[in-house]
Amino acid sequence: MDATRTLPWDWYAGVIPENVAIDETAYVETSFSFTQYRSQTPAGVCIGRGSSAYSGTLFDVGPRGQVRIGDYVLVNGARFLCDEEIEIGDYTFISWNVVLMDTYRVPFDPVARRQVTARVPLVEPRRIDHATFARPIRIGRAVWIGFDVCILPGVTIGEGAVVGARSVVVDDVVPYTIVGGNPARLVRRLDPKEINHAL
Ligand SMILES: CC(C)(COP(=O)(O)OP(=O)(O)OC[C@H]1O[C@@H](n2cnc3c(N)ncnc32)[C@H](O)[C@@H]1OP(=O)(O)O)[C@@H](O)C(=O)NCCC(=O)NCCS
Repeated sequence: MDATRTLPWDWYAGVIPENVAIDETAYVETSFSFTQYRSQTPAGVCIGRGSSAYSGTLFDVGPRGQVRIGDYVLVNGARFLCDEEIEIGDYTFISWNVVLMDTYRVPFDPVARRQVTARVPLVEPRRIDHATFARPIRIGRAVWIGFDVCILPGVTIGEGAVVGARSVVVDDVVPYTIVGGNPARLVRRLDPKEINHAL
């Protein structure tokens, strides 16, 4: 990123918002990732040392939202829907089309939901921006999240866990386990002693 907060390699003519902190060794492929970014916190997105956020990644962060991405994390095109906090541990790998949402943004009551929907054409930028109760998502270190996974509000995923492709994660995931399915259930346990902690 240069002094004007643009990315020299960017295909999109955007800027990185002032309250986004990207380590100088991190890589963000395009500022398009911030077209739905509205955080007013001091650091609405932090991206750590050596981490990468590739094209297809979208930081849909509400006014109070904060996304913290650790060191050497690889985000291969994921959507962060964040109204409170989403935390990603070091060395975690997030595959394509993953959705992490700490909030639903629409009410469960159909009448209230209809009112929210009816307001969309009246207020620029024509988006649902209704504050609902948000619950933080915490992803530990060295987690591997397969493609098309959906992680719902309040979920914590422990260190070294693997989430199988196309899973919907509704409950916490124990460290060093493989989970899969909808809803995601235990597939098998991993042996942490076999995992190289030199990282
Ligand atoms: C999770 C995963 C890594 C597990 O691989 P594995 O250890 O070889 O698992 P297996 O194929 O032996 O399957 C073990 C069991 O888990 C189930 N399972 C595996 N993946 C699953 C998934 N994504 N969803 C639901 N169940 C799954 C299998 O059906 C099998 O069940 P069974 O014992 O009742 O027959 C793999 O299935 C997967 O999802 N890979 C996706 C990787 C990915 O997204 N890559 C993107 C680029 S990095």
